[in-house]
Amino acid sequence: MRQVSVGSIVGQLAKAEGLNVIGVVGSDEKAEWITKELGFDGAINYKTDDLAAKLDELAPKGIDVFFENTGGPIQHHIFERMNAHGRVVVCGLIADYPKAEPAPGPSWLNVIKKRVRIEGFTMPDHFGEIPQLLQTLTPYVMSGQVKYRAHTLEGLESAITGLNLFFTGDNKGKLVVKL
Ligand SMILES: NC(=O)c1ccc[n+]([C@@H]2O[C@H](COP(=O)([O-])OP(=O)(O)OC[C@H]3O[C@@H](n4cnc5c(N)ncnc54)[C@H](OP(=O)(O)O)[C@@H]3O)[C@@H](O)[C@H]2O)c1
Repeated sequence: MRQVSVGSIVGQLAKAEGLNVIGVVGSDEKAEWITKELGFDGAINYKTDDLAAKLDELAPKGIDVFFENTGGPIQHHIFERMNAHGRVVVCGLIADYPKAEPAPGPSWLNVIKKRVRIEGFTMPDHFGEIPQLLQTLTPYVMSGQVKYRAHTLEGLESAITGLNLFFTGDNKGKLVVKL
């Protein structure tokens, strides 16, 4: 499960539904936030941890659902650990956005061997489901079971700073430009 804003909500929803959830983050502060504050079962720092060793430690029985939000080297380690009939949701590939050529993805071989189901996700396809989402999410937010944090910048002129923060990871929470 990957990251700060989208990933933190997806992870908390998964947790509220009873799943064992591991988050991938880029700093120890974020690792502490998702485990201590949000209740994730584990965190992996994609910048400093030994990815394979940490995944073996946190997911010894393999991975059933992979919510892909970033791309980058860890996707291969996760994919290798997918369980049979596992599911992959491809929502974002931030590691590839600044590149002229996206990095090669995982091999199709494991898709066959593990009978993995993969589906791309784009938010506009689901606008019609916002009422159902609110029905599920609102009680969780009201009861404090789902928490969020926003990183708010003031004024349109700060939008470029916001865009840069998106890639440096110095934002803490969903980036919002207040007009
Ligand atoms: N499909 C859709 O409809 C849809 C809608 C909204 C967002 N998204 C996608 O969701 C993802 C997260 O967006 P957000 O709004 O939640 O942004 P965010 O709060 O800024 O989170 C971005 C996350 O990506 C991580 N990251 C940045 N560069 C990375 C890299 N090279 N390798 C691995 N991780 C990296 C950051 O880690 P650190 O900061 O901890 O380093 C941060 O945790 C993006 O890929 C975005 O495009 C998709």
